[in-house]
Amino acid sequence: MIAAFGRRYIFSASHRLDAPALDADQNRAAYGKCNNAHGHGHNYFLQVMVAGPVNEETGMVVDMAALDETVRRLVLDRFDQANLNFDPLFADCVPTTENLCREIFSLLQNALPAGVLDQLRVEETENNFFECLREVD
Ligand code: NI
Repeated sequence: MIAAFGRRYIFSASHRLDAPALDADQNRAAYGKCNNAHGHGHNYFLQVMVAGPVNEETGMVVDMAALDETVRRLVLDRFDQANLNFDPLFADCVPTTENLCREIFSLLQNALPAGVLDQLRVEETENNFFECLREVD
């Protein structure tokens, strides 16, 4: 049996959605208020699902403190209170929730203390979220 452990984190970041491939009118049409030149902020909820067997000795899929440390070091320290547009990861890609979720998935994918990254969810607003799922062989 494979089990999955979930943990939620929160960080606050700002961004402006403005794709270099689009002109000003197209950017306004595509992103609406999110294209505002001054940017805006979100409180992002990040949900990390780690899949794997339950360790017989510890009774856990992954050590929660070790997972917290990994997420803090690779994600929260990087993005909390940051302007996402200034992060090198978004130098050539628009910091939408979709791209943010994909980048966080890449950052964590091979860095977990145990198990595999099964699912990652980033909630940008109450009504707006995105998920990346592990590719199954
Ligand atoms: Ni936004």
